[in-house]
Amino acid sequence: KAFFRPIQSAAPPSPSKRRTKVSVIGAGNVGMAIAQTILTQDLVDELALVDAKPDKLRGEMLDLQHAAAFLPRTRIFADTDYAITASSDLCIITAGARQIPGESRLDLLQRNLDLFRIIVPPLAKYSPEALLLVVSNPVDVLTYIAWKLSGFPPNRVIGSGTNLDSSRFRFLLADHLEVNAQDVQAYMVGEHGDSSVALWSSISVGGVPVLGSLERHQIEYEEGVLEKIRKAVVESAYEVIQLKGYTSWAIGYSVASLARSLLRDQRRIHPVSLLAKGFYGIDEEKEVFLSLPAQLGRGGVLGVASVHLTEEEAKRLRCSADTLWEIQQKLGI
Ligand code: NAI
Ligand code: LAC
Repeated sequence: KAFFRPIQSAAPPSPSKRRTKVSVIGAGNVGMAIAQTILTQDLVDELALVDAKPDKLRGEMLDLQHAAAFLPRTRIFADTDYAITASSDLCIITAGARQIPGESRLDLLQRNLDLFRIIVPPLAKYSPEALLLVVSNPVDVLTYIAWKLSGFPPNRVIGSGTNLDSSRFRFLLADHLEVNAQDVQAYMVGEHGDSSVALWSSISVGGVPVLGSLERHQIEYEEGVLEKIRKAVVESAYEVIQLKGYTSWAIGYSVASLARSLLRDQRRIHPVSLLAKGFYGIDEEKEVFLSLPAQLGRGGVLGVASVHLTEEEAKRLRCSADTLWEIQQKLGI
């Protein structure tokens, strides 16, 4: 304080001034990729890290703090005690087992369900008004579990869902069409995983529908190419896991984009895992979380976009809903 002569009119903001706080639970590959990206994008005033491994946790905190000269001023905390998450605006859950080569996301369910029973209640207790953003896999079922265990309204419990799959879809489409991925609008919806559904009719480049602007013979060619791209999207996580052991960078950017839309009330549309019962013919009693294009803001899910699904696409969505509902019925939650 000796360095500056105070300017009386520049009184510090009152303590009640809104400070944005995010907690990341799980300081592993994914949690730290998310934390690093959120810091770089200047999304928060306070970042709390929680993990079960105290040394790793402290090491990650110190390593991030040492970058302070290159980052916007952010207070970074870390503790194994969930009290450190108190009064969070957003809690991002990445803790849990990850797939080893050959495992599906659903193979992780029992291990991560047991973890969520430990993790979610204290998060809800310390931050009763927070938004919950689930990343751990299987993300759709775990988002349902987080909703049930937290007691939060469904609009405040979201899964990262196919926001990542859609990013992979846009990358591969952009590569095929030789355009910038940011000018490609395209959605994968449904389950984040093997049964995700590509919405062909949603694909547009610079606002121009891709299939809608083609002749019939061109559509058949493109549909063949698009099916190969869809399969490549579904396979991409398995390929990366086989090569480097896990995925982290793309999910880091994907979740940071969701955090921005939520915390900055951007009202942007993202395909995220939400309570999908009643949409596209999914039975009202089936309380399943699946990804649909949703408008996100400070209140969480503000609404679900009425994108057009063909009957085949809607049928595949309902099939995923049935699969997840059957799995959830056996959990006893
Ligand atoms: P990781 O093993 O690097 O990190 C998991 C962390 O969770 C570890 O640091 C571990 O100590 C911590 N942890 C375990 N029990 C805990 C507890 N009780 N409380 C707090 N922390 C605890 O795994 P990675 O690669 O970060 O993946 C994490 C999860 O994210 C996995 O389930 C993975 O499948 C999922 N994932 C989801 C994606 C998506 O698109 N939804 C994309 C990539 C990964
Ligand atoms: C992914 C897996 C790990 O899509 O969920 O990267």
